[in-house]
Amino acid sequence: MTTAPAQRSTSLGSSTWTDARLILALEEVVEKELNRHLAVAKEWMPHEFVPWSQGRDFDGVLGGEAWSLEQSQVTALGRVSLVVNLLTEDNLPSYHHEIATMFGREGAWGTWVHRWTAEEGRHGIAIRDFLLATRAVDPVELERARMSHMSEGFESDNAHSMLHSVAYVAFQELATRISHRNTGKYAGDPLCDQLLAKIANDENLHMVFYRNLLKAALEIAPDQAMRAIADVVTDFRMPGHGIPGFERAAAQIAIGGVYNLRIHHDDVLQPVLRHLRVMEIDGLGAEGLMAQDELGVFLDGLDEQARKFEERQAALLARRAARRAS
Ligand SMILES: [Fe+2]
Ligand SMILES: [Fe+2]
Repeated sequence: MTTAPAQRSTSLGSSTWTDARLILALEEVVEKELNRHLAVAKEWMPHEFVPWSQGRDFDGVLGGEAWSLEQSQVTALGRVSLVVNLLTEDNLPSYHHEIATMFGREGAWGTWVHRWTAEEGRHGIAIRDFLLATRAVDPVELERARMSHMSEGFESDNAHSMLHSVAYVAFQELATRISHRNTGKYAGDPLCDQLLAKIANDENLHMVFYRNLLKAALEIAPDQAMRAIADVVTDFRMPGHGIPGFERAAAQIAIGGVYNLRIHHDDVLQPVLRHLRVMEIDGLGAEGLMAQDELGVFLDGLDEQARKFEERQAALLARRAARRAS
């Protein structure tokens, strides 16, 4: 991978990179990855995935039919998960603010920030149109949750550091991909599944962009990048954590197999870490080695926690199945 020649900051010590210098040094990589992204990203039309013929007026201004639960054709798990995914997408203005502030609005970085925002914008549009046309969820509850969630804004846990921000989005885009994909799988509606697969494909390309950027950062500033990865992995939380009732929804989503510790460990953290060869990288200094060790210990612990979760999940599902059978 092409990276800018090593430039070392003198302001924070001989081996410390400032955010400003990293952003400059990575500009070339951003341009290359942006061009790769634009070449592989295929245009798609959100409106094609919405069954408009199923839509009808709601009560209120148009005097149509009020929403009621039996109108919804998706599964209970699908309803919970679709709302969490949509509200997470809805907070895009706050995410845009965070990354535009961190990466800037000029040059290749700026082009990426705006393109990414445009792609993310269609996710919320498509899911909302689908949910309203099919009456899959309560539109009043959804709107109130959106107002409440967006009014809180979103503040990144990683705004203090460019490398932490890049590391976070690399994992978070994959987490979002998996979450959309599995929601589609369990929603019980083939068209919903198709729509979410399309969205998941966008998220995958976003992950690839940030993962490749993180790879370049590991080459330029290995110790700092390793520290950022260790911090982000050990403190990871989903961007939707501020959604009203998130804890309860997250528990249902975990038990239902849309997103849980096992999936987080196996399908989100490990693929990125393995691709970047994070646990095998050599040539690290003392700080990088310490971060790598911390990461290894954390991953072992997480794997064990995931194993215990799976046991509880299996027991709970068995109890539910027994209740249904009796
Ligand atoms: Fe998205
Ligand atoms: Fe994304």
